[in-house]
Amino acid sequence: MRYLPLDEIEEGMILARSVITEDGGTLLPKGLKLTKDHLQELKALNFTHLFVGVGPEDFEAEGISEQTYSQALSYVREVFLNAAKKQNLDYKGVLDVVDFMVDEVLNEDVLFNIFEIRNHDNYTYLHSVKVGIIAIIMGKNLGLEKDQIKELAVGALLHDIGKMFIENSILEKRGRLTYQEYEKMRFHPRYGFEILCGAPGLSRQSTHVAYQHHEREDGSGYPRGLISEEIHLYAKIVMAADSYDAMTSGRSYRRTLWSHEALAQLAAEAPEKYDPKMINLLAKSVALYPVGSVVLLNNLEVGLVTDITRGSVKIEFLTGEDKGKKIALKANDLLKIERRLS
Ligand SMILES: [Fe+2]
Repeated sequence: MRYLPLDEIEEGMILARSVITEDGGTLLPKGLKLTKDHLQELKALNFTHLFVGVGPEDFEAEGISEQTYSQALSYVREVFLNAAKKQNLDYKGVLDVVDFMVDEVLNEDVLFNIFEIRNHDNYTYLHSVKVGIIAIIMGKNLGLEKDQIKELAVGALLHDIGKMFIENSILEKRGRLTYQEYEKMRFHPRYGFEILCGAPGLSRQSTHVAYQHHEREDGSGYPRGLISEEIHLYAKIVMAADSYDAMTSGRSYRRTLWSHEALAQLAAEAPEKYDPKMINLLAKSVALYPVGSVVLLNNLEVGLVTDITRGSVKIEFLTGEDKGKKIALKANDLLKIERRLS
């Protein structure tokens, strides 16, 4: 499976991951043979990249099924939009989908390994779902009980719900925010906490994730400037997951970072900003080189990452005598990934 810019994708290539719309519906299903019309339509909708595949193994199930992923997207969107309209908030869908998500992650040994297929419209919901998945994997790796992971997951999925009360011009601004805009933005955790507190059936711990996810270890965060021991464990987990996803999704005004770069930057910012234990936990929970990465190996050949498990990374050689051959690299093998090329 390769993650390619739309310009490099040709007619006849097979879609390896479905293209999902912002409401969780399937725009194009995986396995589809792409035509010129599909490619034009995607371009018109501002999609920039797609996963395309070559062999049958490209279509194996991921750690989180596409169905659960798109359901989560759909429920999160519904709750967020209802919050914006100040309508009755019904979290049942979110609580149900969290059950599925947690079950799927607990049943498989997964690393977070999604880079999304998206256009400009669906960032907030996709971000929420991805932060939810990362938080569940982190909670599992930390050894939390299943009920605790569910509370954490609900908080992670809804952490940014307060953004629905911030003007779009601020949320969608590509450049640095002005002082006044930033001051307004700093209210979203409080708005989120307030709206979630009024909802029956949500635990206090989940609501505090929304309230505390922009706090920082040294007290430099917002809205209350809490310090390390005042910040709830779930919020510390979501803080790390939130920043990692923002850095790797090209949303901030900075360049999009690759997974390994984001982890290095977060490690450098800890312990002032993040709990170092949480950054270590994050590093154990996300793939360093996600599927689709083209990497330089230490034998100077180039390889494509085709599959990832906790113990190994499957590589297909793109150059050299072994071109086309696939091997599984384990942590103490002599052959190693040197760096990511694309
Ligand atoms: Fe936020």
